[in-house]
Amino acid sequence: MTATSRVDLPLLPLGRGSDPASERGVDCPGDLPPASDPALVERARAAKQALGDRVFVLGHHYQRDEVIEFADVTGDSFKLAKDAAARPDAEFIVFCGVHFMAESADILTSSAQQVVLPDLAAGCSMADMARLAQVEDAWDALVDAGVADRVVPVTYMNSSADIKAFCGRHGGTVCTSSNARTALDWALAQHGPDTKVLFLPDQHLGRNTAVLELGMSLEDCVVWNPHRPDGGLRPEQVRDARMLLWQGHCSVHGRFTGEVVDRIRAEVPYVQVLVHPECRHEVVTRADLVGSTEFIIRQVEAAPPGTVWAIGTELNLVRRLAAAHPEQRIMFLDKTVCFCSTMNRIDLPHLVRSLESLAAGRVENVIEVDPATAEWATVALERMLSLPG
Ligand code: 13P
Ligand code: SF4
Repeated sequence: MTATSRVDLPLLPLGRGSDPASERGVDCPGDLPPASDPALVERARAAKQALGDRVFVLGHHYQRDEVIEFADVTGDSFKLAKDAAARPDAEFIVFCGVHFMAESADILTSSAQQVVLPDLAAGCSMADMARLAQVEDAWDALVDAGVADRVVPVTYMNSSADIKAFCGRHGGTVCTSSNARTALDWALAQHGPDTKVLFLPDQHLGRNTAVLELGMSLEDCVVWNPHRPDGGLRPEQVRDARMLLWQGHCSVHGRFTGEVVDRIRAEVPYVQVLVHPECRHEVVTRADLVGSTEFIIRQVEAAPPGTVWAIGTELNLVRRLAAAHPEQRIMFLDKTVCFCSTMNRIDLPHLVRSLESLAAGRVENVIEVDPATAEWATVALERMLSLPG
């Protein structure tokens, strides 16, 4: 196999510097209203009202309360991708979420619509763990190993548009935490029983879905380390694996541990542990219920009063669920885990600036995927949207 080439990974402070190919942080110019401005809520309301149906505000479940208040719809990344496409009449989509979600919204909406991300530094550290040059190197290594014609690349929605386009070009698809099982079932049927999946960029979602939902063993899964030649794998490991898991993870969900689940069970009687599949395998195997953000919300909404929950997902959502369901006892799985710092970059001052700029006729912070990337990313996204369920 070939050696992996080195790929630059600039470490830019969030919101400063410039690296348009990265989710890691870019300049975010423009005047921002101070967070202490007591009129912010009124300003957001007035700007949104002035824009009327011209604007459609999408809010991911991990966004702050102050932002969710102005969202026309809320959802996980799967639901928001579909919702974005369902409002062709809106001139502007203001995406309160992170960069890869806004890119998907741009791809799925018409060219007459513009997608705005209120803070361009709202990227995703997981998405940054798979860069196109690294994935192309990995693919070349799989070609040299003689297995690439049996490999189907599947990327989690949490990846940049060029990675989605790579999957589209190579016969693969996109998945979200809501439909990962269906997407893997589809992918594994593409080249008969010897099919392998290259799963990007979240090793945990790939492993948890393969083992817990498709009945594979942990030995069927190997981890491709993009920083090592040939992924750090021996040829026989690549030949025998069914799942080639990219070495990426979520910096929030990856922090929950099996130990913390054991501790909460010992300390809290009748607790039900409910976690997102981006958590490590040792966490999901100890949990009572595992599922996407929408799944987590549905479980809580359907539970009887008095249910005790320890929830392992982003803190903004857990707090909102706890506030909306005082009849249940809802706690955060691990109090040492923080908010998603990039999701949290979208705050009321950034939203107000975006809405007021649009109302004044200035379209700032537009997310626009180049046409060649968009063409192939659309192929991968449409394959996903046509999957059953
Ligand atoms: P979902 O929205 O698919 O549940 O993903 C969670 C997440 O980490 C989004 O960044
Ligand atoms: Fe990325 Fe994790 Fe934050 Fe989602 S929660 S945006 S996957 S770092």
